[in-house]
Amino acid sequence: MKPASNRAAPPRVLHAAAEVFPLVKTGGLADVVAALPPALERAGAETRLLLPGLPAIVDALEQQRAVCEIGPAFGAARVTLRRGQLPSSHLPAYVIDAPYLYRRGGGPYQDASGVDWPDNLQRFALLGWVAAHLAAGELDAAWAPDVLHAHDWHAALACAYMAAHPSGACRSVFTVHNLAYQGHFALADFALLGLPASFVAPSGLEFHGRLALMKAGLQFARRVTTVSPTHAREIATPEFGFGLDGVIRDRGADVSGILNGVDGKVWNPQHDPALVVNYGAEALAGKLQCKRALQREAGLEPRAEAPLFGLVSRLTAQKGVDLLLAALPALLGSGAQLLVLGSGDRALEAALQTAAHAHPGRVAARIGYDEALAHRLIAGSDVILVPSRFEPCGLTQLYGLRYGTLPLVRRVGGLADTVIDAGDAARATGFVFDAATPEALSDALLRAAGAFRGPEAWQTMMLRAMAQDFSWDAAAASYLALYAQAAAG
Ligand code: ADP
Ligand code: GLC
Repeated sequence: MKPASNRAAPPRVLHAAAEVFPLVKTGGLADVVAALPPALERAGAETRLLLPGLPAIVDALEQQRAVCEIGPAFGAARVTLRRGQLPSSHLPAYVIDAPYLYRRGGGPYQDASGVDWPDNLQRFALLGWVAAHLAAGELDAAWAPDVLHAHDWHAALACAYMAAHPSGACRSVFTVHNLAYQGHFALADFALLGLPASFVAPSGLEFHGRLALMKAGLQFARRVTTVSPTHAREIATPEFGFGLDGVIRDRGADVSGILNGVDGKVWNPQHDPALVVNYGAEALAGKLQCKRALQREAGLEPRAEAPLFGLVSRLTAQKGVDLLLAALPALLGSGAQLLVLGSGDRALEAALQTAAHAHPGRVAARIGYDEALAHRLIAGSDVILVPSRFEPCGLTQLYGLRYGTLPLVRRVGGLADTVIDAGDAARATGFVFDAATPEALSDALLRAAGAFRGPEAWQTMMLRAMAQDFSWDAAAASYLALYAQAAAG
């Protein structure tokens, strides 16, 4: 019999995901995949990553060596599993070197013009297949995980492959970062996956006559999580379930929410190299210099007394940018300024540029993706806007809190779990509104602009916001508890 202490030993965890900051990032998923594994390491777990061999990943991993020749798979003539280290955290990472499927320009899911890669099914089937076989101990004789943690639809098939070929003691955990992206493909392509025919049923991957790879995670993972407690409740409802709420309800208590954290190595106003001046709760004056520099950089009027509202976001329907455009008259009427950094939906990009041209010096839009400007924007703004229709967790409001930039958010998902409205004077850290309407958002914008004109109460809120602790260490402790439950049954 094993000694009792062995049973409590921290697990070996393999994270399978399609992006990791700073190598490949389209959104918050990359930030999570970069920060959670090191936090699990700090908590004692042995953690590795599995990533697709996108050029930015294969070319950056340090100390690489081949682990296993997989041979031809999913249309690729040559697939090699390599192991190296992530340059920033030095965490061990496996990368699937399959040039035919992964070595190309453009983004991880789409080409440079925004069109989905036509072979995404094969590209992400390979990611799931390799994850499952690593989990089974079949690809690396020196290491196998106790827990496979798959993220979003891109890695979800790992849970189906593991269920189809149960082998070894590894258990799967699946995290939903965004249920709006489900990985839909033609049902006829199911044959390419090499899964048993029973997996094409509605109790498997079938979804309204298509395949939804997200369902592989939702149906077959031992435990399912999403990135905030409120969103875990929301996705079990038709309003936020994107058609999968029934599947989620059926999983009952197997579904839970664990809040994301902030990576203090990347997001800390005291050490942030992107800022003109660093600042902290004890030296707030630097924040005003950041605001001045940001106004100059964005071509906004250099007015310290004008509240500066900032937004950094993918420009999609999710993010409520249309609500913001409709609420612009209230924002401008209050004497405030607006700076938006984002890219995505062409119509939203054009509407933001039109608003900027119509209100020079008061509204500015930077269309594109710019990591350093995102940092300067979050530091230099007075308020960070997150008026989302749905938001599983949301990271920019957490970064705003850290930087003393008060979040103005809609009461959904992780936004509801992390920001306390100014109405609760003793605990307030920002501004929260309910209805997804221009009127409700306008009302919140006016409240924030009004509060900004009371500098003492504002500073109290800033200091309280900066003292919030949304740490990855807390999240890692919750994931470890969940891994233990998954292993137990
Ligand atoms: P989501 O994952 O839904 O896009 P999150 O708030 O979780 O939303 O994460 C978004 C991440 O992407 C943050 O790190 C944010 O700073 C970053 N980001 C979004 N748009 C841009 C942009 N245009 N330029 C730089 N960073 C951006
Ligand atoms: C998703 C969500 C966002 C979350 C991020 C990281 O893309 O839209 O709310 O913060 O994943 O979990």
